[in-house]
Formats: sequence, C-alpha cells, structure tokens
Amino acid sequence: MWKKEVKKMADRVVTGIRGLDEILHGGFIPGHNILITGGAGTGKTILCTQFLYNGAKNFNEPGIMVTLEEMPNELRSEAKNFGWDLEELEAEKKLAIIDAASSKAGLPTTERFALRRGFDVNTLAQEIYRTTKEIGARRVAIDSIAGLGMQFEGTINIRTAIFRLSALLREIKCTSLMTSEVPAGEVFTRYGVEEFIAQGVVLLFLEEENDELRRTLIVRKMRGTAHSLKRYPFEIGSKGIVVMPGKV
Ligand SMILES: Nc1ncnc2c1ncn2[C@@H]1O[C@H](COP(=O)(O)OP(=O)(O)OP(=O)(O)O)[C@@H](O)[C@H]1O
Ligand SMILES: [Mg+2]
Repeated sequence: MWKKEVKKMADRVVTGIRGLDEILHGGFIPGHNILITGGAGTGKTILCTQFLYNGAKNFNEPGIMVTLEEMPNELRSEAKNFGWDLEELEAEKKLAIIDAASSKAGLPTTERFALRRGFDVNTLAQEIYRTTKEIGARRVAIDSIAGLGMQFEGTINIRTAIFRLSALLREIKCTSLMTSEVPAGEVFTRYGVEEFIAQGVVLLFLEEENDELRRTLIVRKMRGTAHSLKRYPFEIGSKGIVVMPGKV
C-alpha cells in the first residue's frame, strides 16, 4: 500500500522513514519547520536523527543536529545501535552536531561545533547560522526546545526564544524539526506557542493497551498539503522507526 502512493510525489523533502513519507504524501514541504511532539521515550530524538541521517546519506542533503539535552557522544552511540554511523558523515561534512548541552550544563567540551561562551539563544542562533553556511545544510533538527527553557524564569522568555529560532530557521531555508514534550495528561504542547509557529505538527504517543505499550503517531497539521489524518502504529526496530500501513 505504501509504495504505490509515494511514487507520485515530487518536490518534497523525503524523510526516508518507511511509512511516514506516505502519510505525508511524499515528505515534508521544503523549508518548512515541523514540530515533533510527544512524551518521554516516544521516539522524538530517534526520528530527528533518522531524518538527518537519511538526508545526508541518501539524498545529499547535509544536516545539523542541535542537541540541547543529550551530549553528542550519547547521540552518536545511540545512532550506532541502528547502524547509523554519524561520525562518518561528520568527517565528510554532511552532518554537524552542535553541542549546546555542555554549555547549558556548565561543562567544557571538545566538540567542533559548540557554544563556548555560555548558553543563550542568540549565540545558539549564530552558531546554527554559521554552521549552515559552513556545511551547506539543507536539514536542521533542534532537540529539544524544552532545553531552551532552563535559563528562563517564566514562559514569556522561552516563547521569545522559540520565535527567534523559528525566524532563523525560515531565513536559512532549511527543512527543520523541533522537538517538544507534552506534559503527561495534557493535550497541548508545553509552551502553547510552538504548535502555532510551526508549519507542521507530528504527535508521537506511547500508550498502554491491554497491558502493553503501543507506539502510534498522528500528523496533526501540515500547512500547504494534504496528509493522512489517521492514527498509525509504528515500531522502533533495529533500523529505526518504521510506520505501519494499517491504521489503528
Ligand atoms: N536500539 C534500539 N532498538 C529499539 N528500540 C530502541 C533502541 N534504542 C532506543 N529504543 C527505544 O526508543 C526509546 C527512546 O527514543 P528517543 O530517545 O527517540 O525518545 P525521546 O522521545 O527523544 O525521549 P526523551 O523525551 O526522553 O528525550 C527508548 O525508550 C526505547 O524504547
Ligand atoms: Mg530525546
């Protein structure tokens, strides 16, 4: 079922994630900013990594991963479990991992791309901009925007930070993902603005059903395109995320 649909699509940014491109009628719209939202362990980081890895490896689209909560080495080793060699892509300048996590934690870093003079959103924006030019990035992922928040007292400042980054992402014309958590039991995203700013929203769920956890996803919003509105089961297997054709 999936294969037949995806052949018709053109001018899309293919995620390379089996099933997801079909749901999106071919992939994301070039230059759009997509919010990936879900609770802890729902697969947000893996989805971002898979999107960037596939882009760099298979579609000649260099990518930038901005990691705000995980250290780059954790990300590299998690990716290796799926057979994704990030270091190889980094050596070829097809992937850059910006370490924003160390500066937030007040730790030194030996990473090539990092915020060395402390964390703030303008410095982060400048580093993303500079890195985009350096490697010719076409894809960006910011994981997660909750990580922007720790320095801020109230939600007003984190909203400003989200606006600032979202403006930058439009300016550099990369297709981008931002991740955000949904607090347990709530429907809306944490800061109440990110789902309106983003041109698309993908929701990831991990819910108990008959004594076992099930992963599902829904594309809730995708400006400028038709897309499926159904809820789809997905798995995280040995090669990453695979979305199943059968709707829930
Ligand atoms: N090698 C693997 N094979 C299969 N499943 C895995 C593997 N590695 C991780 N997982 C699953 O993926 C989950 C983590 O996914 P991921 O890190 O993308 O979640 P997340 O939404 O980013 O979570 P958080 O909000 O904590 O950052 C794990 O809890 C586990 O269930
Ligand atoms: Mg994560």
